[in-house]
Amino acid sequence: MSIADTFRLCGFFARLWLKERVLPDLHVRPLVAELFLTENCNLRCVSCACWRHASEDELSTDEWKNVLCQLARLPIYKVNFTGGEPLIRSDAVELMEFARKAGIRRTHLNTNAILLTPAKLAAILAAGVRSFNISVDGPTAVHDEIRGRNGAFERTTRHLRDLLDQRDRYGLKVRLSFTLMRSNVSSLPAIAKLAQRWHVPLYLNLITDRTFLFRDPAVAEETQVGHEALASALKQVEEIARKDPRWLPRYSDLQYAARHFDDLLQCSVPCAESQLKLMIHSHGEIGGCWAHLPAFNVKELSIEQVVDSAHYRREHARLFRKDCVGCGSNYSLNLRWRARTHVEDLLWHLQLRKLEVERRIDAVQHPAF
Ligand SMILES: C[S@@+](CC[C@H](N)C(=O)[O-])C[C@H]1O[C@@H](n2cnc3c(N)ncnc32)[C@H](O)[C@@H]1O
Ligand code: SF4
Ligand code: SF4
Repeated sequence: MSIADTFRLCGFFARLWLKERVLPDLHVRPLVAELFLTENCNLRCVSCACWRHASEDELSTDEWKNVLCQLARLPIYKVNFTGGEPLIRSDAVELMEFARKAGIRRTHLNTNAILLTPAKLAAILAAGVRSFNISVDGPTAVHDEIRGRNGAFERTTRHLRDLLDQRDRYGLKVRLSFTLMRSNVSSLPAIAKLAQRWHVPLYLNLITDRTFLFRDPAVAEETQVGHEALASALKQVEEIARKDPRWLPRYSDLQYAARHFDDLLQCSVPCAESQLKLMIHSHGEIGGCWAHLPAFNVKELSIEQVVDSAHYRREHARLFRKDCVGCGSNYSLNLRWRARTHVEDLLWHLQLRKLEVERRIDAVQHPAF
């Protein structure tokens, strides 16, 4: 991250600090835009509603370009291309390239990587994208079952590894995104080890049926994650992290995940995610957050008018204090600016050190013959 970006983020979190403690109505403009290029998809994940209904009459290439120009003027400094599966749009790379040329400094892609062939990857890198989340929901059979397609794991992970091969050359930020749900909770430790083997940071995402892409009775069933299964999986990840914490979620992230399904809100942690991101859906709806629907459309109002409207400001004050239905979207970001979580992590690391020292002393005092 450049120094300018670091300052911008620090300023953003400083404003959130003021908003939380002193000025609840302080207007904090978003820095990042989440663009749902399409709500259609080439997979059929049990956790997702996208593929269950065809989405038609989505924004055209020119309409998205107009959106990108407005975002650059706002200014928005990072755009996340997502969906649905963004790469099924034939103009996806054109839009990524346009975003950079329009003046948006950083572009990110969320993808199932099925279409991230070497040729497509080269075009995406040439378009300036330097940050990627690739979804992997379990080892081979589990992933294929969840994603509704035989061979999906092999293809996705082959493309993920091709991407990792380019990481140093282009300075890429790549994360393996695992969405924890009932069908794969016991696979979490295996995925943690895979992430360590491939040296790719693991993002532990938590299933929800409350956000707009995922509202479906079949998804609701997947949110029924067993207490014991979750506790056991998280304990195993912690044990893996005790030996080597690299590439794994922070200790405080794991603690949050353990509480999530009992308390979707965890209100002591305000929602920074809802303040950071401006959501723009595939038909132009704009505003809201992951779980609260937008009230405007880019076809009717300029983005600046939306962001500065009294309605948007009121809604966002409400979402920040989690007067909302609750979801785990980017809980990790919400935790990162809480000093308490860093103290928690530090204490955990110190405890590890202490145990290690005790183990060494014990080995010296009681040598094995
Ligand atoms: C909706 S997908 C869009 C990008 C792309 N199609 C993909 O699968 O990576 C974005 C992320 O949402 C995750 N996801 C799927 N179902 C979810 C659910 N019910 N709750 C939370 N996240 C979910 C996916 O695993 C993926 O990592
Ligand atoms: S999670 Fe991604 S790949 Fe799976 S159906 Fe939803 S949009 Fe498609
Ligand atoms: S936690 Fe609440 S405010 Fe934040 S994204 Fe989820 S529903 Fe929206």
